[in-house]
Amino acid sequence: MAKLVVVLGAQWGDEGKGKITNYLSLKSDVVIRYQGGDNAGHTIVFDGVTYKLHLIPSGIFNANTKNVLGNGLVINPKNLKTELEEIRQHGFACNNLYISDRAQVLFDYHRYLDELIENSLKDNKIGTTKKGIGPAYTDKVSRQGIRMVDFVSDDFRKIYLDNIENVNKRIVMLGGTPINGEESVKEYIALAAYFKPMVTDTIELIHQAIEADKKVLFEGAQGALLDIDFGTYPYVTSSNPTAGGACTGSGVGPTMINDVIGIVKCYTTRVGEGAFPTELNNDLGNTIREKAHEYGATTHRPRRVGWLDAVVLKYSMRINGVTGISLMLLDILSGIGDIKICVGYDLDGKIITNFPSSLSILKKCKPVYITMPGWTEDIMHVKSYAELPLNCQKYIEKIEELVKVPVQIFSVGPDQKQTVIRKEVY
Ligand code: IMO
Ligand code: MG
Repeated sequence: MAKLVVVLGAQWGDEGKGKITNYLSLKSDVVIRYQGGDNAGHTIVFDGVTYKLHLIPSGIFNANTKNVLGNGLVINPKNLKTELEEIRQHGFACNNLYISDRAQVLFDYHRYLDELIENSLKDNKIGTTKKGIGPAYTDKVSRQGIRMVDFVSDDFRKIYLDNIENVNKRIVMLGGTPINGEESVKEYIALAAYFKPMVTDTIELIHQAIEADKKVLFEGAQGALLDIDFGTYPYVTSSNPTAGGACTGSGVGPTMINDVIGIVKCYTTRVGEGAFPTELNNDLGNTIREKAHEYGATTHRPRRVGWLDAVVLKYSMRINGVTGISLMLLDILSGIGDIKICVGYDLDGKIITNFPSSLSILKKCKPVYITMPGWTEDIMHVKSYAELPLNCQKYIEKIEELVKVPVQIFSVGPDQKQTVIRKEVY
């Protein structure tokens, strides 16, 4: 039987997805990115070298693994080429990358529009990664995007130039300088030729693998609370990082997915603007940020830090149908003293446990905490659950009790070896 597993971020991104997808990708026949673009930053340590992958799936280092950029992505060909060439310089041939013919192309004008829109929002900025993600998805939904299949076709030049007229109208409206279509198209024609051999019907590829009983991994980017439908709208990304996105962004039906692994950071972080009930604007928050080096892999911005929020987690488990949690960065909590978990929100004296859709209501919510005794022991060499300090075990058990999903994997350090698998995924 084939096995299809989704790995996704259960919070606001940066949960440590790269580490787990890298581990699982070594056992996977196919690894698929299904949404987002190069706004993602997945840190992977392979053979002692650290890579920051933005678009390329983490199975790229294994020549026998097929790596797919699914139809749900918005792909910046310039940045994809840079990323690919960098990995090639480390001796990997990268002949195992496949790009969906239905994926959208993200052009420089999308990045420019992203910047112009952010600037026009003044005090209401989203705090995007400025990679052009929002404008590229806007074009997709308003049916003005250019897909890979057309990008690599002979008609591309005409399609692009026709498009630029409309794009320039939008740029001018936002106070920007129009793009020179004739100039910019040249570089894209060269890029299209470079990528043409990789652009293919990935739906066929994926389903052939499924029919041949292969292991297929869906590598989520961003996180559930950044989801365009389920996140803290409008402070979200423009795609569906949640489990449903794995289906629509790759071309498999929901009945074919076997497991959904939710990657959970054992505290919470968020980059960019937007509500964050358990945020720690104090020394402890700063201590955790420095200890865990909580700075964005894509934008290098300092991440906002806070306690674990079980209201957020429970919501996330539900909307994703998470079957197992991978709990990350446990080592960071060693020696920080008592640990808090938010178990509900106090809204004008009433305790609520559902995650509110209204941001003004969310802003009024005061976290209700339970306090767990911390531990001082160094846990970075722990190889099994039983070796963890009792208070650390209790913390894990409390999370399981609150969100009703087992902690299947936990991580006690950045190295791949510092991962404890309580129940294998494959
Ligand atoms: P990975 O995959 C954390 C955030 C941005 C901003 C919002 C919208 O590394 O976990 P966008 O550029 O997507 O339009 O920005 O989403 N954001 C992320 N935050 N990790 C990410 O990816 C993110 N990708 C986007 O900071 O708040
Ligand atoms: Mg990241």
